[in-house]
Amino acid sequence: GLYFTGLGGDNPPPYPVTFAGLEAAAREKLEHRLFDYVAGGAGDEHTQRANVTAFEQWGIMPRMLAGAAERDLSVELFGHRLPTPLLMSPIGVIGVMTDDEHGDLATAAASATSGVPMVASTLMQDPLEDVAAALGDTPGFFQLYTPNDRDLAESLVRRADAAGFSGIVVTLDTWTLGYRPRDLRHATFPQLRGYCLANYFSDPVFRSRLAAPPEEDPEAATMHWATTFGNPTLTWDDLTWLRSLTDLPLLLKGICHPDDVRRARDGGVDAIYCSNHGGRQAATAPALDLLPAVVEAADAMPVIFDSGLRSGPDIVKALALGATAVGIGRPYGYGAAIGGQAGIEFVLSCLLAEADLTMGLNGYASIAELTPDVLVRGWDRK
Ligand code: FNR
Repeated sequence: GLYFTGLGGDNPPPYPVTFAGLEAAAREKLEHRLFDYVAGGAGDEHTQRANVTAFEQWGIMPRMLAGAAERDLSVELFGHRLPTPLLMSPIGVIGVMTDDEHGDLATAAASATSGVPMVASTLMQDPLEDVAAALGDTPGFFQLYTPNDRDLAESLVRRADAAGFSGIVVTLDTWTLGYRPRDLRHATFPQLRGYCLANYFSDPVFRSRLAAPPEEDPEAATMHWATTFGNPTLTWDDLTWLRSLTDLPLLLKGICHPDDVRRARDGGVDAIYCSNHGGRQAATAPALDLLPAVVEAADAMPVIFDSGLRSGPDIVKALALGATAVGIGRPYGYGAAIGGQAGIEFVLSCLLAEADLTMGLNGYASIAELTPDVLVRGWDRK
């Protein structure tokens, strides 16, 4: 129906309908250092390219006359029935991607209208309470970068719990920043100074550490943030403490090794968020290649997967390899850059429409039917 009613002819779509088109439009729109911050990654960027080509190695088996005219893409996660298996992974600078510099609120509003959960980064331009309030009835998750100040970590998690978030995602792969040549070349981080720190600046524990409030001396507050942000000494021994921070579901993001999955499970973690941070942190293997072993080790624990999803078929493939739900980063980041809330909503609806159509045309009516058997290896288009 869309071909007749809207998307084409005299009434073209308002934003690009492919990832390449979105990236090109964002490149036009954003200040070049900010664009490179989002688009770039670690080292020679082989990992982020491999994240994408890993999906291209798989094809989907077509089944005919399967009665898949009506599809159900809903999934269950921590007792929530989600309309689709898609999440918005945390993007720390999403706050400054939109014209009004309230990209976190735009993302939350898009989450409220679409039902696609937002994983809200620690690095937000608005306090987490404001973001939680904009989520409406859609469950949201709070992502913690564990600071080296334990009281501050506890305060952030306590606030997220009180604000109504449905789970805490602790990101483990960014205890210090990766080697990112584009950002090094542009000296991006001084550029980002003061950006996306409002969530910290509003925290009572963070404020108690400062000689003057951030409103009076933002420079000193920013410097304090820089020395507190990461905790390089965090180890598995600290999992008991992390677990004790909340009764909410606890997810560990960045885990891609089966032994680490088992340690997490033994430590009382509720779900694994398998990710290589979109190739922005370590130069490593494509996360997708590691997913099946992670799913096997996770046993009954849910596994959320991100890194490299660019299209509807990619969603289907990650689910078939065992993910309970999937996340995207750059695709919705570009949507935010080119259209704010409406841009994000457009990107989400295109991806979900394509995933739905991919399932239907291949003869799969529900997510439960997506098992490894529906994939064929060695499909590489090149
Ligand atoms: C990220 N990512 C990220 N992850 C996280 O846990 N906390 C964060 O604050 C951020 N910030 C961030 C900023 C930008 C600009 C990008 C592109 C990514 C990683 C993100 O959550 C996710 O793991 C990847 O983006 C997934 O890969 P794709 O979809 O971008 O290929």
